[in-house]
Amino acid sequence: MQVIILPLAHDVALYAADRVAEVINSKTNPVLGLATGSTPIALYDELVARYQAKQVSFRQTISFNLDEYIGIADSHAQSYRTFMNQHLFDHIDIAKSNTHVPLAESKDAIVLKKSAQDFEASIQQAGGIDLQILGIGLNGHIGFNEPTSSFTSRTRIKTLSESTVIANKRFFKDGEYQPHLALTMGIGTILNSRAVLLIATGKAKAEAVKVMIEGPLSAMCPASALQLHETATIVLDEEAASMLALKEYYRWCEQKRQQLHEGNVR
Ligand code: F6R
Repeated sequence: MQVIILPLAHDVALYAADRVAEVINSKTNPVLGLATGSTPIALYDELVARYQAKQVSFRQTISFNLDEYIGIADSHAQSYRTFMNQHLFDHIDIAKSNTHVPLAESKDAIVLKKSAQDFEASIQQAGGIDLQILGIGLNGHIGFNEPTSSFTSRTRIKTLSESTVIANKRFFKDGEYQPHLALTMGIGTILNSRAVLLIATGKAKAEAVKVMIEGPLSAMCPASALQLHETATIVLDEEAASMLALKEYYRWCEQKRQQLHEGNVR
């Protein structure tokens, strides 16, 4: 894993935006994997700003989102489709027909299973994901792959853990229906991406980040599966990195990488 520690959450967003821009500027039909949640909002704001400044265009980009709540309409205020439209898609030149968020409005298991299979097939048809953006849950989940999810899982129906339901309660009004099920890309699906970039900011994520990077490979921390990925980059602010035992080593690695890049190895 490449672990990059930056001073502030804003620096994490800028780094992630650079990586996204690199992919979309270097490929004819770039395929991005996208996440929702609080963490990537600053990244999406930055991408919108770069689009407005004509530094990037998403005209040829295809996107796949990690997950969607089951049983609420796309148009629902708390659907992940709405989130993506509001924070990114409505403000850039991506064709909406090229944006894929799992279709999960139905509560019928057969319809949902078919939707999950179709989603996997669409990723294949697009040629696979070039860069998957990820956040991490307090319990170490990626997408909605909750603890004990199989490392080889594909897109499927997943029951949310109590910790996730509580963490996401803040988005739902008092008394409003809050889904306990989601359709999520599997860990196997995520690991098939050509590159993975996980961003984490703030003190609350420090424990999950430590277990992901320095803990054992374990289904109890789904994000630890990224240890198996050839090109996983973890970008953290100081607070999210605060519990890492090998923090100074990661900084040293980045220093050496930079020196190598500049032809200045010492
Ligand atoms: C969202 C997703 C989740 C979030 C995670 C962190 O599509 O897949 O895994 O990335 O719950 O959420 P925030 O960023 O709100 O802390």
